[in-house]
Formats: sequence, C-alpha cells, structure tokens
Amino acid sequence: MDIFNEIGPLKAFLRLKKIGFNSIGFVPTMGALHQGHISLIEASRTENSITVCSIFVNPAQFNNPADLAKYPRTLESDIVLLEKANCDILFCPETSQMYSSQSQVIFDFGKLDKMMEGHYRPGHFSGVALVVSKLLHIVSPDRAYFGQKDYQQFKIIEKLVTDLKFDVSLQCMPIKREPDGLAMSSRNARLARDQRNKAPVFYQSLGQAKSLLRQGNSMKDVRTLIVKKFESIRDVKLEYLELVDTANLTPIENVSDTAILLIAGYVGEIRLIDNLLMTDAD
Ligand code: PAJ
Repeated sequence: MDIFNEIGPLKAFLRLKKIGFNSIGFVPTMGALHQGHISLIEASRTENSITVCSIFVNPAQFNNPADLAKYPRTLESDIVLLEKANCDILFCPETSQMYSSQSQVIFDFGKLDKMMEGHYRPGHFSGVALVVSKLLHIVSPDRAYFGQKDYQQFKIIEKLVTDLKFDVSLQCMPIKREPDGLAMSSRNARLARDQRNKAPVFYQSLGQAKSLLRQGNSMKDVRTLIVKKFESIRDVKLEYLELVDTANLTPIENVSDTAILLIAGYVGEIRLIDNLLMTDAD
C-alpha cells in the first residue's frame, strides 16, 4: 500500500495511475477502522482497479471538543487492516494539510441538516460537507463509498455531489453489526464493559419499533414506549427516534416501504447512532 501525507504527491501519483482507463474507488474515513470500514474497501475493490482510503479526523465536523480529543486514533493497526484488505493507497494528512487556510465556507442544506444529527450537532454537516468536498477534489474518484450507518450524512453528501456537480458516483453500503446487533462504530472502542452490554438497546429498539409499526401502531405510541424503555436503563439516554422518508428525510407518521427508522443517544458519555430501513430483512 502506498501511503501519502501530502496532497501534492498524492495527486501526482493518482494522475499517473489514472492513465490507461483505471477507475478509482474512494473510501473516506476518520480511522479507528473496523469491519464496517473494511466492507467499504472490499466493495470498492470489486468495482474499481484502484482503491484509495483516507484517514483524517476532521476537526470541522466535531461540535463537541471533548469528542474530538477522545476520538480513537489507531493509525498503526489501521494500516495493518488496510494492507490485509489489499487497499492500494492510503491518504492520511495532518490537519495543516487539509486546513492550510482558515476556511470560511459554510454549507446549508435546508431541512436536511436541521433535523436529527443536524439538530443535536449544530455545524456538524457543514464540517462534513467541507472535508468531503476537499477530499473529492483531491482524489477525484470515479466512485465513492459511504455507509448506511450514517444515513443522514449519506443524504447530505448525495445533495452536495448533485448540487456542486461532482463527477462521482456514490455508493451506500449496508451496516455491519456485531453478533448482538450493535452497529460497528469507532466510538464502540470507548465503551466500558457494562456500557458495551447496554449498547445493543439502540438496535433492539429499532427492531421493536419496526415490528410495532408493522402491526399498525402509531409512531407517537411507539416513541412513548421506546422513551420508557430507555428511562428504565441506567446510564443510557435517548436523543431521538424518528421515522422518515428515505427520499428527503421528511418525518412521517405511517409506515411505508420507503421509510427508515433512525435512532441516536448516549451510553454514558459516548454518543451512538443507528438506523433500520423498513425494507431491511432484520
Ligand atoms: P467514519 O465514521 O470513520 O466512517 C467512514 C465511513 O464508514 C462512513 O461512510 C460510515 O458510514 C461508514 N461506516 C461506519 N460504520 C459502519 C458500519 N458499521 N457498517 C458500514 N459502514 C460503516 O463518516 C465519517 O467517518 C466521516 O464523517 C467522513 C465521511 C470520513 C468525513 O470526515
């Protein structure tokens, strides 16, 4: 695997690689890699001749400085995982490379970034859009791979790419889970053992909400029940449980095949998110 810390040499290298109709697949990450990330690398490898992964903990998308400071950084073991997955190129810049000038660019996605994650993490999606724009310009991939795990993020990146006419095709890949259903996440590494035991409550609640909705219960009643469930467990906190339309993230009351349930909250001070499509098998 070729590793680059600087934009110039990476761009020069990619320019040469693109000669001869090579297609470039790109997987942007913030590191502390797990099998969820690796599934994106694998998807890219099956569809492209060259796969580029980036690891950059992007300060602009952290609205909580403590979360940024405590975000796990495991570059050495990340490199081992990427080598094993046969990733071709890793781009892992310092913050000064990505933010050499004080950026004043702010993104506004209208309703899309005011609800759910956008509501609880003001400025978060503007920071995501900023870094993803920079990365797409630097790598200029044919395809870029994102996870359904961050569904709202995917919808925002979709809008960014459409509105700004980036010449890239976006792929949204399924959520990789631990055997007990917990969605894999870099933040899971921060969970103490008893917190880890409680964390599957998010996935369990999604499953329970889904079957209650399918039985004809209203979203209002389902939410009340899940709020009670969270209140009965020490050290966990529910921020939101929403049923929205996949097309535009508009909240809906009645279940349909284009609906998705999204949940977020805390175990201790660690924030977790998850979601379930009404069409998902689980
Ligand atoms: P990060 O949280 O590292 O995630 C990188 C990619 O991996 C995202 O597209 C995310 O949705 C996907 N992913 C995370 N957990 C997953 C899981 N359990 N199964 C499948 N895919 C999963 O998302 C970011 O980084 C950043 O916001 C980024 C887009 C890199 C911009 O900084």
